[in-house]
Amino acid sequence: MDSHRAVKIKKITHGVSGDLSFPGDKSLSHRAIIFGALAEGVSSFTNVLDGEDCARTREAFRSLGVGMRSATPAEIQITGRGLHALKAPQKEIYLGNSGTSMRLLLGVLAGNPFRATLTGDPSLSSRPMRRVTDYLGQMGAMFEGRDGANFAPITVRGGELKAIEATLPVASAQVKSAILLAGLYARGTTSVTEPVLSRDHTENFLAHFGARVRREGLKVSVERGRPLQARRFEIPGDISGAAFFMALAALLPGSEIRFHKVLWNPTRAGMVNVLERMGARVEVGELHCDGPEPAADFVVRGGPLKSFEIAKEELPSLIDEVPVLCVLATQAEGTTVIRDASELRIKETDRIHSMVTALGRMGADIRAEGDTLYIKGRTALGGAAVDSFKDHRTAMSMVVAGLVAAGDTVVEDLDCVGTSFPGFFDLLRRLGIETQFFK
Ligand code: S3P
Repeated sequence: MDSHRAVKIKKITHGVSGDLSFPGDKSLSHRAIIFGALAEGVSSFTNVLDGEDCARTREAFRSLGVGMRSATPAEIQITGRGLHALKAPQKEIYLGNSGTSMRLLLGVLAGNPFRATLTGDPSLSSRPMRRVTDYLGQMGAMFEGRDGANFAPITVRGGELKAIEATLPVASAQVKSAILLAGLYARGTTSVTEPVLSRDHTENFLAHFGARVRREGLKVSVERGRPLQARRFEIPGDISGAAFFMALAALLPGSEIRFHKVLWNPTRAGMVNVLERMGARVEVGELHCDGPEPAADFVVRGGPLKSFEIAKEELPSLIDEVPVLCVLATQAEGTTVIRDASELRIKETDRIHSMVTALGRMGADIRAEGDTLYIKGRTALGGAAVDSFKDHRTAMSMVVAGLVAAGDTVVEDLDCVGTSFPGFFDLLRRLGIETQFFK
């Protein structure tokens, strides 16, 4: 995305239609780079997300000696070094805004016999890392960092690891993934048990790249010993990016948006289930399977929307979609309740606070009691100047809100959109929606 500070949005008074394809899913793009780097041989991936977060993961592995070539920004060819030949980095590894890069990389570095220091921007430096460093420390890695290695900059000294059996207090794919990646280096069988299944991409990638991985209910185990094998595949479209457009289709009566080759994994599909409960129509067409995870073509059509409830158990399957679900809830009849969403407080920003503040400014009836959100609809939203809180998902959600609000909405501090979805405004334009940027 060009570097613009703010965007002005006007209300859309008609339905929108179109056929959309999306850049690769962010979680999958990170993992493709990581697994390609750790595999033996040359991997090649297409439709890789060209956002800043994934660029941080690419750069991190480059600085660990991994060769990467790209004919276009969405293609990447990785000459893997295998599990045991990463090089010590020459300088600190800067990971920008990307929590996934930092947590998963800590897992990899825990098994490698050198020192590395990971840093990030102010948001990443205030996000808790002990949720991974405590477990990786039990496995044998050593960490230094503020508040007992809770906050970046964090220095890791990896080495000989022993397996652990971890039981996580919260469902977190980042924590699970860090432990499983370290498990590739650990003596014995490493297992992670979650209270609710979080996105299972790391497990799927481990199996696809040839590791010994096993799932029994909420427990997943990995063994060391087998080298990872290089792979080639196309990365399915980002379902969390597509979510903003699914919301638009549902919000603007008469809309019909066709989604092409979007990631189709039940651990990420919570938003689709909620849309159906709300009264939007989702029709699933062809399934595609080219790699570790399937993609689907589907159509979303709008309709009168009803409020919804999300219990704690459903949250992991839509954790990144809560901001845009808050926008949908303002236009749904009845009171929406999103329960026990404390994990939202430690995302790129506190997303309970950002959404209550920004939607509140536009006249929404939204409040938080503890970590539970209550949103009463339908409310006629009014245009306002709102802040992105430097958070990509808050920013894009507020653009969607602006498209259903009377008058002009200005979303400020917009460059953060580039962390996950540089082409967001181009896809809006594809639907005939014009926005105006200014400094
Ligand atoms: C991610 C896991 C989720 C999600 C994040 C990406 C991943 O975080 O919010 O955007 O790729 O593993 P948690 O695992 O911390 O919930």
